[in-house]
Amino acid sequence: MEFTIKSGNPEKQRTACVVVGVFDNRKLSLAAERIDRAAKGYISDIIRRGDMEGRLGTTLLLYNVPNTLADRVLLVGLGRERDFKEREYYTAVRNAVKFLNETGAYEAVIYLTEEKVRRRDIGWRIEHTVIAASDATYRFDHMKTENVDVRRPLRKLTLSVPMRSDLLIGETMLARGVAVSEGIELTRDLGNLPANMCTPAYLADMARKLASMYSTEVKAQVLEQSEIEENKMGAFLSVAQGSETPPRFIVIEYKRAGVKKKPVVLIGKGITFDSGGISLKPGADMDQMKFDMSGAASIFGVFRTVAELKPNIHLIGLIPACENMPSGRATKPGDVVTSMSGQTIEVLNTDAEGRLLLADALTYAERYDPEAVVDVATLTGAMVITLGNVACGVFGNNETLVRALVTAGDDAADRAWALPLWDEYHDALKSNFADVANVGGRSAGSITAACFLSRFAKKYNWAHLDIAGVAWKEGKEKGATGRPVPLLVNWLLARENRDE
Ligand code: BES
Ligand code: MN
Ligand code: ZN
Repeated sequence: MEFTIKSGNPEKQRTACVVVGVFDNRKLSLAAERIDRAAKGYISDIIRRGDMEGRLGTTLLLYNVPNTLADRVLLVGLGRERDFKEREYYTAVRNAVKFLNETGAYEAVIYLTEEKVRRRDIGWRIEHTVIAASDATYRFDHMKTENVDVRRPLRKLTLSVPMRSDLLIGETMLARGVAVSEGIELTRDLGNLPANMCTPAYLADMARKLASMYSTEVKAQVLEQSEIEENKMGAFLSVAQGSETPPRFIVIEYKRAGVKKKPVVLIGKGITFDSGGISLKPGADMDQMKFDMSGAASIFGVFRTVAELKPNIHLIGLIPACENMPSGRATKPGDVVTSMSGQTIEVLNTDAEGRLLLADALTYAERYDPEAVVDVATLTGAMVITLGNVACGVFGNNETLVRALVTAGDDAADRAWALPLWDEYHDALKSNFADVANVGGRSAGSITAACFLSRFAKKYNWAHLDIAGVAWKEGKEKGATGRPVPLLVNWLLARENRDE
């Protein structure tokens, strides 16, 4: 979709559709009020009759509103005025655009951008209008040969700003919203792609593709089986060995010329399919384990956005990618493997595979002398039980880093919530046969998984995002969400400004 920005009165817009908000209790937004005044009470009449109550996300489409130049006016419910915050803003825009996409209008001018959101300025509203609108029109149907809806979709959205002096910041944040949306879209596409197509080799090609698209700033390097062996990544290889599909260890680097800073390293879990291995998962919903490379997908998304925006930062992405499959060659429960760090691991459950590959990637990260390392993984089902699909869990060995990630998530309406890594939790990982076991008990499963990782992340500031609950949706809307790309981009850009 194409986005533009302008400043002007709603009743004077020559457009297929003007989008304005209505709060509950019959309170019109400023833009709705202006149209109402021009139309001599036409809108307030409709509201008085009860056809639009202003409940959040509801819509009512009006044609030929008197004394306006637009073909249509779309009223969007904003809910209670004092509850109108980041998430409500996002929902209102998303629903409005979803609705527009179903009408014949191929372009529209949206005035929700002029509504005040507590603590958020016009720049924030512009950026998030673009992200929410792109979210609403995202589709993944190129593998369908039938029943593809061919109606005219919304092609162009114009965002209104209250004053001409807002246009400058508006343009900047519009570009940022577009870049973040492109990153989210890449992450969703990779997540949604099935495991027979999205293989470790496919992910490696994606890294090479980004490197050729943005050759000045982005470089890619791919380690194959033999090089992974040379690096002694015994934990990673123990997961990969059950599959016929060979693993890849992908390194991607973004560096703006002249930047001398120590790098930030992002690590993404790249299990392209998680059957559980010999500790086989139950059959129901096993298809969803194609999303087990969502952490890796989010790293690619971040690189896409960053390569578009070109901030002055130095970023490394590490992606251990493989399948977790049962076979005659697969790792068995009880096997002991030696990680790249030298620590031995008793693999009590082959379905706790993510932490094994992350362990070796965390050790590999040491060579960059990083400023900070953040790993992103669909690591534990327990995370879905803990925080549901509302927030991801964040863990770490540095409180400032953890807090910065939580704040970045709040700002991006892509929330994260900090959980503890106290010493007591480490006891669960004791093994009689190796330095550490790869599973604790059933209790505090997300925390003990993070404790396991922390043993491999002692040499730098480290945080871990467990995105098992937020990376994809189940049910009718099954599909990848693109989270936590907004959080990570926000964090990186906020760091850039802080460092300067
Ligand atoms: N990829 C899964 C975690 C997962 C499960 C994410 C369901 C989203 C939904 C991970 O590899 C896994 O299987 N974890 C096990 C760990 C357990 C064996 C300690 C789990 O959570 O059941
Ligand atoms: Mn697993
Ligand atoms: Zn997994």
